[in-house]
Amino acid sequence: MTTALIGQPVSRVDGRQKVTGRATYAAEFEVPGLAHGAIVRSTIAHGRIASINSVAAERAAGVVAVLTHRNAPRLAYRPHKGAPDPDVGERLHMLQDDQVNHQGQPIALVIAETLEQANHAATLVRVSYTSETGTTDIERIEPVLPTQKNDQGQVRPPETRRGDPEGALAAAEVKVDYTYVIPRENHNPVEMHATIAAWDGDRLTLWDKTQWVHNVADEIAAVFGIPAENVRVVSPFVGGAFGSGLRTWPHVTLAALGARVARRPVKVMLSRREMYYGVGYRPHTVQRVALGASRDGRLAALLHDGYQETSTYEEFSEALLNASRFLHSCPNVYTRHRIARMNVHTPTYMRAPGEASGIFALESAIDELAVALGVDPVELRLRNEPEQDEFKRLPFSSRSTRECYRVAAERFGWSRRTAASRSMRDGRWLIGWGMATATYPMNYAPASAMARLLPDGTAEVRSASSDMGPGTWTSMTQVASDILGLPIERVKFTLGDTRLPRAPVHGGSMTMASVGSAVQAACRKAREDALTRGGANDVTEAMRRLGQPVEASVDVQPGDASQRFSMHAFGAVFAEVAVDPDLGETRVRRIVGAYGAGRIVNPKTARSQCIGGMIGGIGMALMEHSVVDGRNGRVPNANFAEYAVPVHADAPSLMDVIFVEEDDPHVNPLGVKGVGEIAIVGVAPAIANAIFHATGKRIRELPITPDKLL
Ligand code: MOS
Repeated sequence: MTTALIGQPVSRVDGRQKVTGRATYAAEFEVPGLAHGAIVRSTIAHGRIASINSVAAERAAGVVAVLTHRNAPRLAYRPHKGAPDPDVGERLHMLQDDQVNHQGQPIALVIAETLEQANHAATLVRVSYTSETGTTDIERIEPVLPTQKNDQGQVRPPETRRGDPEGALAAAEVKVDYTYVIPRENHNPVEMHATIAAWDGDRLTLWDKTQWVHNVADEIAAVFGIPAENVRVVSPFVGGAFGSGLRTWPHVTLAALGARVARRPVKVMLSRREMYYGVGYRPHTVQRVALGASRDGRLAALLHDGYQETSTYEEFSEALLNASRFLHSCPNVYTRHRIARMNVHTPTYMRAPGEASGIFALESAIDELAVALGVDPVELRLRNEPEQDEFKRLPFSSRSTRECYRVAAERFGWSRRTAASRSMRDGRWLIGWGMATATYPMNYAPASAMARLLPDGTAEVRSASSDMGPGTWTSMTQVASDILGLPIERVKFTLGDTRLPRAPVHGGSMTMASVGSAVQAACRKAREDALTRGGANDVTEAMRRLGQPVEASVDVQPGDASQRFSMHAFGAVFAEVAVDPDLGETRVRRIVGAYGAGRIVNPKTARSQCIGGMIGGIGMALMEHSVVDGRNGRVPNANFAEYAVPVHADAPSLMDVIFVEEDDPHVNPLGVKGVGEIAIVGVAPAIANAIFHATGKRIRELPITPDKLL
């Protein structure tokens, strides 16, 4: 008997806890004797602290301690690289010297009885600097090739060439050659980052907002020079992260440092403004895309040359150009990825890091080519559909682009589109229809899980994963229930604690593939053991007969499929915009996305993720822009009043998500590809292409704000 829960639109098992406020987020844990930390941040981008006077702060009401580089304990900072950390460079060491590397760098921590007292005393710390010339203006920097040869965990050179791209471009009958700019975008999850640290001798407990509890433990253990087993990290709920919680940012170290000095638990929570200085961001990118094609619309040349900002102390490098190497068929391809080292803090992964930015440029350029050729944008893509991954020279494990174009176009009503720009109207509004292709790699990493069957016919299943919102609590419960053959309410899944079996980072859209496969395997093993030992063919009956728990722990890891196949999710995104011809305001009216993402474990939460990605894509296309003051690296709009993100009123009334059937036996045991990141890919170019169709204006610099359309 199977309950066939995999594939069912199960509602979130933690939904009630969340809507009733009973889900406990990092800053909400009640820890006796808690003191509050406030971070003092540098007001220059580059230089040294000449003097720092904390006397007034120390005398302020309620202050427990003020830590600066002059009195903070020396920290071990043993070598440590967590997987999401850049391969090249070294993280900032907190309060260990007088060096300032970026605007907003932590230079002191004030600990007080209350948050208000800490915040007030932080304003009393007097600092003077010796400023050094730095560069915070990306337009004044010559980008360079990165030192590292890895991006996104796969060995790939930052510069690739096949065929004769320059020659083919020069000889092409039709060509487009433009530069696309995406400004810095910041993470703005509902929950700001927060850490509570409590020491017990040389053992430390951290309640933290993170996408990877074990990475926090490993990093903080290295920073403090203690065994990783001494650090327990608890993170059951994460109020959105999208990549901001992959690394362990400076405030986590500061909370632990503060708690050690104060000899009591300390909480440090970033304000909304501090989110722009205290965690990474999607880097500013500049990308040239040149395409050459024959008159009949076959790509002959593709050159994609892009660069992005990074800090002076770490080389962050994202997969900006990867998709250009295989998404469309082309014999002559050149890609180059460079970095611009600046006096800024290190950028980080932000939903579909690299793909979302790179594919904006690529899919805008393909649309420009379609216009130049007078060919329908879907038809142009179909004419350049590759038979295999032409970069890796491997077959795709599965690729449903054709089906995605077909079903999304049909649902959207694409055949009713009139080709000329400014040809569709609704009253005074200019209507535009645009589309783009999407892709994101299938990632699968080693993962462990434990399944425990109890005599009363219930089960406990565990893995130290995270759930930043996609519904991991729910989907893992589903997989476990399905395999065990138990009703979902009899299965309790637990995540978010370093005491649980190790899971990989909750990022890269790999959780369902990795943790899901581990949960599946652990449950299979526990079920088989129970049936054999209990001498029954029903788990509940077997466990009743056994009268004692049956436990199975399993580690899964990828085989050699990635050497035989190119494995990616693919999709097609169609958008309708209405543009006010007098005011330049754009409203996204409809988005239809079709995705070939392998097996869909929970169509309800998967759809929800895709809708979230579409809304994120609207933000990227029309609103999000961290303005960086080129003189000093400050972000003057580091707040919700001036950094616009889409709200309900900005979301289209129709967001249609279609998952095309895909049975891919190669990707991983569960047959899933993940939908978390592909959901935002393709949305911004589909909207930009729709805006061109509506207005005849090609905007190559995001966000497409009204001033750019007037
Ligand atoms: Mo995703 S940017 O790996 O959270």
